[in-house]
Amino acid sequence: MNIGVLVSGRGSNLQAIIDAVESGYIKAKISVVISSRKDAPALQRAKEHGIEAIFIDPQDFWKDREHREEKRIEYDKKIIAELEKRNVDLVLLAGYMLMLSPYFVNKYKNRIMNIHPALLPSFPGVNAQKQALEYGVKYTGATVHFVDAEMDHGPIILQDVVPVFDDDTVETLSNRILEKEHKIYVEAVKLFTEGKLKVEGRRVKILKE
Ligand code: GAR
Repeated sequence: MNIGVLVSGRGSNLQAIIDAVESGYIKAKISVVISSRKDAPALQRAKEHGIEAIFIDPQDFWKDREHREEKRIEYDKKIIAELEKRNVDLVLLAGYMLMLSPYFVNKYKNRIMNIHPALLPSFPGVNAQKQALEYGVKYTGATVHFVDAEMDHGPIILQDVVPVFDDDTVETLSNRILEKEHKIYVEAVKLFTEGKLKVEGRRVKILKE
């Protein structure tokens, strides 16, 4: 099985997947890492592990507000071309900060996963950890889900919970969540590669053996 990972930043979730593949825990190949930002440290991480790492510039997509939807599809088609070249079966969003077009989502239906630093459907979008802190929840967590055309919305694969402490800052809370992110993302990818995920509407069932 070939995996493609889309990133925009630090790449700690990418690193968790790389480690799980290198140790043989996940039996698949990371065929390509594609970044929407040229300076994303995630690109460097990929190269250090001998994985092809590509930057695809979203400039046009941002510049042309009037034709944004067309530009978004154009941009996604560039990504898809790279994925198809390498026969990618599973696409992972790992800190990828652009919305995918419905075109992309339909093409890889139930074959794109995202990691989000909150217990969806609570706190979608950016700064989920800050949102949770400001809302005053006592527990938050991490979610891995299949991607659909709405933001942070598709069928939920795995979640895990962390407590929120009185003296938490965005940073301490984010670090606690991140540990869970790395674990559940690896687990979800492993289950997928073993053919153990079955999507029924919004529910994702985990098959035993
Ligand atoms: C992670 O916390 C991930 O959950 C979050 O961005 C961070 C990327 O870190 N994603 C989102 O907020 C998506 N809505 P990483 O680059 O170190 O994996």
